[in-house]
Amino acid sequence: MTRKDLLGLYDLSAGEIETILALGLRFKAALKRGEKEHTALKGRSVVLLFYENSTRTRTSFELAAKFLGAQVVNISVATSSVQKGETLVDTGKTLDAMKNDFIVIRHAMGGAPKLLAETVKAHVINGGDGMHEHPTQALLDMLTLKEHFGQIAGLKIAVLGDIRHSRVAKSNLYGLTKLGAEVRMFGPRTLLPEGLEREGAIVCSSREEAVEGADAVMGLRIQLERQKAGNFPSLGEYQRYYGIDENVLHAAKKGALVLHPGPVNRGVELTSGVIDGAQSRIDDQVLSGLAVRMAVLSLLGGEERA
Ligand code: CP
Repeated sequence: MTRKDLLGLYDLSAGEIETILALGLRFKAALKRGEKEHTALKGRSVVLLFYENSTRTRTSFELAAKFLGAQVVNISVATSSVQKGETLVDTGKTLDAMKNDFIVIRHAMGGAPKLLAETVKAHVINGGDGMHEHPTQALLDMLTLKEHFGQIAGLKIAVLGDIRHSRVAKSNLYGLTKLGAEVRMFGPRTLLPEGLEREGAIVCSSREEAVEGADAVMGLRIQLERQKAGNFPSLGEYQRYYGIDENVLHAAKKGALVLHPGPVNRGVELTSGVIDGAQSRIDDQVLSGLAVRMAVLSLLGGEERA
């Protein structure tokens, strides 16, 4: 891959996505064999700059970089000079002056990774920016699907929930449609943005329509503050009309996969039976996340070896 940064899937070609997935599958197979020592990033440094909370993304980037042989630094924004008013650009320049090779950033503001990438020499990877994109989450979702089904083209994927505020939904829409999947979306009207059809989504008028015959059903995390904002009446009603339970799953293809980016609100987006059931790939998604982040780091700035 010749690009310096990974900011989103909107800008990536289908070929670039396929390259990342192919290497990610090799890393995932290696992880399953217990192989964690690689050399693609030996002598390189990776800074994790997370302005928002994270368990999966931060931990898997840290492990991915370490398994590839890099030195890793975690910046605690709460105790850094950000608290003294340092701007993102000045923080970036400071990290660049220390000759860091990669910066993985999560930020509440959409566009923050792009601003940083334009400022620094280091490779910048978007670990989630506002409501904009979460490219490595969508890549790990696609890796999970590709490993199970063999290919993405022709799959029917139902994405349910808060599409408006979900960077995961947007990155998945861009990536899945580029690889030839059908992406159906449904959620409360207040949480469905305009323009989804222009980006290739099929916007459905009911949960059942979205799920009918789907190969995979993806729930999205509902941000609890959205209820206080009046976007839906109550968590109980959200579960009843937009959540995924065993009855809803029956409308999907037999053996359809259940995906969720996590963290899950148990009993809201998905019932516990679905989360812990045979069709759930939520734990497998986490392993895919480690593998795909190894692939992204390798392809942006290391050697393409699994
Ligand atoms: N899916 C995801 O981004 O999870 P974290 O917020 O735990 O990183």
